[in-house]
Amino acid sequence: MTKRVFNFFAGPATLPLPVLEKAKEEFLDFANMGMSVLEISHRSEQWDKVMAEAGSLLRELMKIPSDYKIIWLGGGASTQFLMVPVNLQVPGKPLEYVSTGGWAEKAIKEAGLYGEVDIIASSKDENHSYIPKDVAFSEKAAYGHITSNNTLYGTEWHTWPEVPSDVPLVCDMSSDLMAREINVKDFGVIYAGAQKNLGPAGVTLTIVREDLLSRVPEKTPTMLKWKTHAKDSMYNTPPVFPIYISKLSLEYLKEIGGVKEIEGRNRRKAKILYDVIDNSDGFYKGHARADSRSLMNVTFTMATPELEDKCVAGATPLDLIGLKGHRSVGGMRASIYNAMPIEGVQKLAEYLTEFKENNQ
Ligand SMILES: Cc1ncc(COP(=O)(O)O)c(C=O)c1O
Repeated sequence: MTKRVFNFFAGPATLPLPVLEKAKEEFLDFANMGMSVLEISHRSEQWDKVMAEAGSLLRELMKIPSDYKIIWLGGGASTQFLMVPVNLQVPGKPLEYVSTGGWAEKAIKEAGLYGEVDIIASSKDENHSYIPKDVAFSEKAAYGHITSNNTLYGTEWHTWPEVPSDVPLVCDMSSDLMAREINVKDFGVIYAGAQKNLGPAGVTLTIVREDLLSRVPEKTPTMLKWKTHAKDSMYNTPPVFPIYISKLSLEYLKEIGGVKEIEGRNRRKAKILYDVIDNSDGFYKGHARADSRSLMNVTFTMATPELEDKCVAGATPLDLIGLKGHRSVGGMRASIYNAMPIEGVQKLAEYLTEFKENNQ
């Protein structure tokens, strides 16, 4: 058995072991072709099957309605920051955004290159430790944009903002895709880099309501139009390996009971860590407000940076890896995506409890 640590990195992140094992098993000879999946033609029938299966698993697990297209793209979620305004801008209409953190700010910056951006709510005043309340996008907006989970700060939307029925809600779901059940119909567009909850880095998933595909101005570079890719994501060579691994991880998610089951597990895992924070008499200070806490990234600080460094360093020999917080918050961050087993979270909770007893 290969040594495995508990990997709490924010992304690329831990993948389910059975997925890695399956990939290893068929790595040199995919579908009896005598070639690796890395070598086969993306025009082969075997590859077509991978794409079709990945799409139908995703549709089934997320309950994606038939009038939504599934698009697999390169370029990371960061490229979607610009593809959103490129595809959805409407001359004279503001592009409305909510600023809940560093990734939202990056999306806002790109949108500013294409139109008038209106930041209708922000949590910047308190270092993005909360999700603004009573957010409502306006009738005049071309679209409204939110970031469902703020990876750096550990906050997550628990209920969606108000959007007029003819204004599409666009959501960057990079760090909580399939972490909980959602109704896809609440959104016009969902996009997510794969490298947290879906598969490895290198592919980005974009789910677009069909009627929105035709908004894009004709004189837009071909590769930047969602509609170029909407048929089968095969206009150009797709990122085959990340799509293949994503397909294996979707199979695995289905096998263990789907999104409902994983949501239950995610809630149990997050509670274990938030309980440690809440019961620590202030030794651990959660960054996110209790009403905005993320199921995926648990962020907390301690009295001094020295103590935080000591805590991170002490975790490493116990195989609890990747706990240093992002510089925008400091402290520690435990990323507990779908593939993090509950045993990893329990072990971390025990370590933190013991660390507190020995260092307070
Ligand atoms: C919420 C969110 N959006 C966007 C990104 C950027 O994704 P990518 O690196 O795929 O461009 C990240 C990456 O961590 C993220 O967490």
